[in-house]
Amino acid sequence: MKGVVLAGGTGSRLHPLTRITNKHLLPVHDKPMVLWAIDALHEAGVKELMLVTGGEHVEDFRRLLGAELEYGNQERPGGIAEALGLAREFIGSDRVVVMLADNIFGGSIAATIENFGGQRAGARVLLAHVRETEHLRHLGVPRIENGRITEIVEKPVEPPGRLAVTGLYCYEPDVFDVIAELEPSGRGELEITDVNNHYVRAGTLEFDVFEEYWGDAGESIDAYYEVIERVRRPHFGSERPRPTPLRRFEDERGWLVEIARTGDLPKPIRQTNVSFSREGTIRGLHYHERGQDDLFVCLQGRARVVAFDRETGEAFYEDIGEGNFAAVYVPGNLAHGFEALTDVLMIYHVTEEYDPADPDEHQLPWDDPRVAHLWSTTSPILSERDQSAR
Ligand code: G1P
Repeated sequence: MKGVVLAGGTGSRLHPLTRITNKHLLPVHDKPMVLWAIDALHEAGVKELMLVTGGEHVEDFRRLLGAELEYGNQERPGGIAEALGLAREFIGSDRVVVMLADNIFGGSIAATIENFGGQRAGARVLLAHVRETEHLRHLGVPRIENGRITEIVEKPVEPPGRLAVTGLYCYEPDVFDVIAELEPSGRGELEITDVNNHYVRAGTLEFDVFEEYWGDAGESIDAYYEVIERVRRPHFGSERPRPTPLRRFEDERGWLVEIARTGDLPKPIRQTNVSFSREGTIRGLHYHERGQDDLFVCLQGRARVVAFDRETGEAFYEDIGEGNFAAVYVPGNLAHGFEALTDVLMIYHVTEEYDPADPDEHQLPWDDPRVAHLWSTTSPILSERDQSAR
């Protein structure tokens, strides 16, 4: 299997950072962006690589990456599929794995390449979880029915799911015939999504889901900085709530506990709240679409934290406070809440500031049948807002 790294385009979404240099040469933490793609391919055992970029930048890449790679020159930006078309001779009759050089994978992509090796025909894409609807609107989003992709919608206004197509694609060599037949899209480009939809129609598009962090650093300035922030931190790589025991350092004066070293969290803390709740209260179920995560700690009394994954239907609960002094980190796209099992004092650190002009607050009823059995009460004290969630 050979690899093609696509590093073309005008980088207009990152102007003026990209007026002089190519987007894929900008720094991402401790190395130029393109090296994330190349290192990921090398780690997965794909060593024979060609890099396709715009004419005036070929020499820059050659200076950085040397003569071990082949270079392709895309004269004018005509889309991802067009750029891939330039690798036809290099690939010959091999299979090809294609990677967009602005994609950052926070883990190994080897499994997908191995799975494609075992696939008889067609193509394979790697999907990733994307929480925010607005973010999905900038990506390719598959509609999945009965475990199969039935269509990929490019930049959907109403995303048909919460998984996005990442910039890692595996193809048989017949992909070049598919590209040769493509018509330019509305934005005047040969779209990789049209290539993938060809394989959907042929019934030969397979996929994997990447369970670790994935980011597209070329999408916007905000996305670029978010990716940098994420790769500089260790990440949990999963969308599951994560309890962490808290250790008390005791001496004759009393005790001290470190609640959070924010460098260990997937995202920095931006706001901290404390609430007191009377026994029998439930606060929830709430969720957030713009990426607000919560770190719950019960300072006094006992509380039950409940979380529910609206995608997979997986539910989770943990009693914290007296008897189990722990912090629970809840990814904010999960519907979550807590019940005061006694009078409780809760502190919660959150990763976005509350925006009163446009609150990122969404709800499920506390007694949604998929979680109702997890609470210890059937008649909680509720706020008006939580009472009216239906
Ligand atoms: C491209 C693809 C899109 C995919 C994304 C991943 O988007 O067209 O389907 O989800 O890469 O990075 P573009 O960067 O061209 O907007």
